[in-house]
Amino acid sequence: MKFKTHIFSLIVVCFAWSTTHVVSKGPASDSDSYILSCGSSNGGTDSDGRKWVIDIKSLTSSNSVTATAQYQDPSLPSETPYMSARIFTSQSTYQFSVSPKKRLWVRLHFYPSTYSNLDPADSYFDVVANEFTLLKNFSATITAQALTQAYFIREFSLPPVKSGKLNITFTPSKQHEGSYAFVNGIEIMGMPELFQPATMVGFTDQTIEVESNSLQTIFRLNVGGQYIAATNDSGLTRTWYDDSPYLFGAAFGVTSQADKNVKIQYPLDTPEYIAPVNVYSTARSMGPDAKINANYNLTWAFQVDANFTYVVRFHFCELKMTKVNQRVFDIFLNNKTAQAAADVIAWSGSQGVPVYKDYATYVADGTGDYQLWVALHPSVSMKPEYNDAILNGLEIFKVNDTGGNLAGPNPVPSQMMLQAEAEATKNFSPAGGPSHAQVIGGIAGGAAGFAFAAAVCIVVYRRKRKNAGGMESGFGSWLPLYGNSHTSTSKSTISGKSTTGSSHLSTITQGLCRHFSLPEIRQAAKNFHESQVIGVGGFGKVYKGIIDGGTQVAIKRSSPSSEQGVHEFQTEIEMLSKLRHRHLVSLIGFCEEDGEMILVYDYMANGTLREHIYKTNNAPLSWKQRLEICIGAARGLHYLHTGAKYTIIHRDVKTTNILLDENWVAKVSDFGLSKTGPNLNQTHVSTVVKGSFGYLDPEYFRRQQLTEKSDVYSFGVVLLEVLCARPALNPNLPKEQVSLADWALLCQKKGNLQDIIDPHFKGNINPECLKKFAETAQKCLSDHGLARPSMGDVLWNLEFALQLQQNPSEGKHVAEEKANDAYAMHKKMLNIEEESSLNEDTDDSNTNVVFSQLVNPKGR
Ligand SMILES: *[C@@H]1O[C@H](CO)[C@@H](O)[C@H](O)[C@H]1NC(C)=O
Ligand SMILES: *[C@@H]1O[C@H](CO)[C@@H](O)[C@H](O)[C@H]1NC(C)=O
Ligand SMILES: *[C@@H]1O[C@H](CO)[C@@H](O)[C@H](O)[C@H]1NC(C)=O
Ligand SMILES: *[C@@H]1O[C@H](CO)[C@@H](O)[C@H](O)[C@H]1NC(C)=O
Ligand SMILES: *[C@@H]1O[C@H](CO)[C@@H](O)[C@H](O)[C@H]1NC(C)=O
Ligand SMILES: *[C@@H]1O[C@H](CO)[C@@H](O)[C@H](O)[C@H]1NC(C)=O
Ligand SMILES: *[C@@H]1O[C@H](CO)[C@@H](O)[C@H](O)[C@H]1NC(C)=O
Repeated sequence: MKFKTHIFSLIVVCFAWSTTHVVSKGPASDSDSYILSCGSSNGGTDSDGRKWVIDIKSLTSSNSVTATAQYQDPSLPSETPYMSARIFTSQSTYQFSVSPKKRLWVRLHFYPSTYSNLDPADSYFDVVANEFTLLKNFSATITAQALTQAYFIREFSLPPVKSGKLNITFTPSKQHEGSYAFVNGIEIMGMPELFQPATMVGFTDQTIEVESNSLQTIFRLNVGGQYIAATNDSGLTRTWYDDSPYLFGAAFGVTSQADKNVKIQYPLDTPEYIAPVNVYSTARSMGPDAKINANYNLTWAFQVDANFTYVVRFHFCELKMTKVNQRVFDIFLNNKTAQAAADVIAWSGSQGVPVYKDYATYVADGTGDYQLWVALHPSVSMKPEYNDAILNGLEIFKVNDTGGNLAGPNPVPSQMMLQAEAEATKNFSPAGGPSHAQVIGGIAGGAAGFAFAAAVCIVVYRRKRKNAGGMESGFGSWLPLYGNSHTSTSKSTISGKSTTGSSHLSTITQGLCRHFSLPEIRQAAKNFHESQVIGVGGFGKVYKGIIDGGTQVAIKRSSPSSEQGVHEFQTEIEMLSKLRHRHLVSLIGFCEEDGEMILVYDYMANGTLREHIYKTNNAPLSWKQRLEICIGAARGLHYLHTGAKYTIIHRDVKTTNILLDENWVAKVSDFGLSKTGPNLNQTHVSTVVKGSFGYLDPEYFRRQQLTEKSDVYSFGVVLLEVLCARPALNPNLPKEQVSLADWALLCQKKGNLQDIIDPHFKGNINPECLKKFAETAQKCLSDHGLARPSMGDVLWNLEFALQLQQNPSEGKHVAEEKANDAYAMHKKMLNIEEESSLNEDTDDSNTNVVFSQLVNPKGR
């Protein structure tokens, strides 16, 4: 469960209440709410402006100590409540007075770190709330590792406590020597009764009385939409996440958003606190092709604990259809029919009216990997007008077992993530780390090869790094995927996943991403025939292939002799399988069999950005197209930095890692070098220097500390490459011109930047636009990370530049407003695939013809 801690405001809570709930007697609602920063001496305010108070008044015993974390992970949203903790070495109880009539939220915040020199790995404990066991033999450290997050929240919902006294007891595990318990924050607040009896799937007339049970929130997703912070929830301070990481297989449908004229209207039996407007106004459906839809299930897969009943709440709101029997579909839970012939309009009566349905299912032990599958499929037999299905939101709650227990075992962190981290930590030491001299050696060696300039530098550099320290080699010299085909959503077969899946991958990843057998891959890639090769790199070759009888894919196969490690392979799968965004290349699946390591990606018809800006026979891209491509890539990177559950630093941003699909949509590729930002229990993301010459952040070099600003620097170089149409490094040029970044900054300073821009644009770039663009690149290249803009700022500035180019006459003010709109739209739709394709509004009318020519795959 992945909760961020963007918090909430009490005002909102109270508001939602008074409109929906009979005010109960008992204590005033204020006394129902506790927001405690545990172990803190004077409380504090978090990043959302919410006040946290000290916890001492609620403690019933004095056998605990307070401590401050020794290290502040950069991913913490604020010091409060995470930097302070209360540590228990023996059983201790908090007691709260609560309204006897209200269901309660209980949220526990954990930031496993080193407190008072205690080893975080020694902390195992139980948490009990009156008769309910919330956590048992719980290790926050292992949990955080498995989530690859520095901190996390556990959210529970308890039935009303009749005595009016809620005890929350922390007990260090007796089985573990030196064990202690800790907690950073506790929230307790009243909530309306959200639950009602739910049908047990597979048992026609059996229901579970959810109201009398305690529940744990396992997943809460804004399907087809994006992250909703607690402050933007409809009064219950819940956090909603993007659903795309949980989509199973290559076919993930299409997302949509309510048109302006569709107003979300809550009916009486669905108060707004059930889910906010943002949940109901975005949706995922199957796609426009009735035939394809008939042949696949729109499927989400979730990892859960066995031996529990789960209540799955589906939120629906029809945004397009208006009549009954237009869109009718079946809902499956773990391969059983939960609902046949669901028809949202039939349920809700009208477009824009929310409706929700609950189904319960028991996940038994012994099924192998404990997963909860949610699948939708058109009810073809009902002959609906469209073969389609829709979902707007999804919540999954775990119900306590007969013993009142909600706790499952600790998760098992992905072995490969742990190993990759251990390796990175081991190899990094101030003395043993790569020195400046070694790296320069790389450049010199590369420069000797002249003709291939930058590319050679990179290869030599990588070899050197490997030889010098035996570190993980770059996965990265990953070559473009060329061609001229279309990739589209298609039927997904689930091929023997659980029996043949990689043993190294966490089950969750296996669930998220499709597994191919070697024979399947061989068939797709014509038995790896040379004619299918579309790229070659240090790791092996990239082949073009066809799967599912028509979908073109790029198949990246490591040669057995390649230096590429199993770790990089697995890291790439682990990373990519969880990320889906319009501006990121999608991983479709993988194959690990017979010592082969193969990744299957979306096929990018127009290859790399690089091959469309210089040393190319391709027609030059117009300035507007280039700007749009830069904007797309910036969106992809911005998503990596902020849109995903944790910050992801790409580490190898360059023009050959920005790919273009058949519609010239830019997609960032190659996450083999990526690091999840501040994660695990490492002190900071310090790591061996990786990346490509000419793009490397000088600060990363000096301090070997990675931040997302290293990507911003590299992106600044990309912007210059696009503007000046020359490589980042060109050793053939006079010394001061070798590095594009240095040269362009020098020219910018002297005020003669226009002399080095691509001659194709001379006179075609609006001077205001050029100025904005150049300023943005210049800021990205600031020597110090702190002085560089965030990717979000870069994106805004590029949008602004685009407006200045398109509407020079409207003036700066209008351009600024439009850029604001574009940026707000992007933020809103971080994950939505609805923007119109670039082709539609290109000014060169002949570009389509020219660009659809086959590019020569061996042309580089
Ligand atoms: C809560 O704890 C107090 C003191 O430890 C105890 O007297 C009381 O019975 C407990 N209440 C419940 C509901 O467990
Ligand atoms: C809440 O929504 C508003 C408007 O949609 C947005 O500007 C704001 O950033 C959101 N707050 C958070 C914390 O995401
Ligand atoms: C589920 O319950 C069975 C029977 O009580 C037990 O043997 C098994 O270990 C449990 N499984 C898990 C994962 O807890
Ligand atoms: C559902 O069916 C698919 C394929 O038929 C299978 O891979 C998966 O394990 C099943 N899920 C469950 C929970 O039984
Ligand atoms: C969709 O899922 C159901 C339940 O698991 C299964 O019976 C059906 O065959 C699936 N349909 C397709 C096309 O995969
Ligand atoms: C949940 O726990 C309560 C209290 O122990 C118990 O009465 C109830 O039956 C449990 N629920 C289920 C589904 O077992
Ligand atoms: C507690 O959790 C750890 C880590 O998951 C596990 O190795 C150990 O066996 C568990 N102990 C008990 C008593 O369940």
